[in-house]
Amino acid sequence: MNKIPYGRQNIDQNDIDAVVSVLQSDFLTQGPKVREFESKFAEYVGAEYAVAVNNATSGLHLSVLALNLSKGDRVITTPITFAASANCIRYAGAEVWFADIDPNTYLLDINSVKELIESKPKGFFKGIIPVDFAGLPVNMEDFRALADAHDLWIIEDACHAPGGYFIDSKSVNNFCGNGNYADIGVFSFHPVKHIACGEGGMLTTNSKELYEKLMLLRTHGIAKENIDENHGDWYYEMIELGFNYRLTDFQSALGITQLEKNNIGVKRRNEISAFYKKAFEGKIKFQDLPAGTYNAHHLFIIEVENRKGLYNFLHSKGILAQIHYVPVHTMPYYKSIGYLDANLIHAEKYYSRCISLPIYPTLSNEEQSYVINSVKKYYE
Ligand SMILES: Cc1ncc(COP(=O)(O)O)c(C=O)c1O
Repeated sequence: MNKIPYGRQNIDQNDIDAVVSVLQSDFLTQGPKVREFESKFAEYVGAEYAVAVNNATSGLHLSVLALNLSKGDRVITTPITFAASANCIRYAGAEVWFADIDPNTYLLDINSVKELIESKPKGFFKGIIPVDFAGLPVNMEDFRALADAHDLWIIEDACHAPGGYFIDSKSVNNFCGNGNYADIGVFSFHPVKHIACGEGGMLTTNSKELYEKLMLLRTHGIAKENIDENHGDWYYEMIELGFNYRLTDFQSALGITQLEKNNIGVKRRNEISAFYKKAFEGKIKFQDLPAGTYNAHHLFIIEVENRKGLYNFLHSKGILAQIHYVPVHTMPYYKSIGYLDANLIHAEKYYSRCISLPIYPTLSNEEQSYVINSVKKYYE
């Protein structure tokens, strides 16, 4: 049997044809596919606006800048995420404050965030970056209420969760990144995620003002609107210190065809998850699914004793299980800037026990059974 990774892209002939047709066209970047991808993605998640970027890390950077984060400000996020969710705060020269996770959902624990906020004077924090970790949507309605009470913005790191949703108190299905509660949603199109563009990302928002700022910052801070006609057609103005964080047209073409099959992919991921749960129910702990929540299942995580032993055993069997994540506050960089004694009990306990099993749309039933039997065999 071939090696079984924990996640992988699903590229078919339709995806390849879409990319090739852009390569044969006039525009490799900033062509019509970028706009098309943005508008289809916005529609998919139910947001007003979408801004394509070259990866989610750039997108997180633009998001904190658009929300005016600056040196000395403070933002709360989760330690159980990829480092980029926290690093964007540092890019703006601001301080990262970690709150603990919920030991059952593995999401940023709203009570821990509330405690942290309430332990400081009003105005101490500027924002919160919750992560729809492993594909499980955060209840953004609850976070919005907390944020509003303390005048904070919210960036939803939805990199793991396109197609996931939670049902709010008005019985509305809120797709991750729909902008009903968070100010900006951020998605990643790294190949291991649901939608593969090679590298790529998308920002979603319902605020016209934020949309315009994000668009400006994505391309060097250059504006072509509202310019005096007397200058001539070539003229442009750089009005902000921006970046080149653009996505190319051929990546956008791939993003469109990938997006078209995302619902099928998420459905298959949920079938795989159900099969794992059936096999492990009552024996092995896995991520809770709160009522009214549809998990997009980027990852399927179990918690076990002797995690390192299981990891090595599975790798010896060609199953490339992975650990998500080494807690961000324990990274040498974060330790070097003072996170030596963060009291994040649940995050650290979770990290000592977690392991991600393979989950991706093209994982076959046979491969999954092999994974399940191998896990069981290790503990026999
Ligand atoms: C939760 C989360 N946020 C942000 C990122 C950064 O995404 P990208 O690789 O597109 O920059 C990742 C990527 O792994 C992620 O998992």
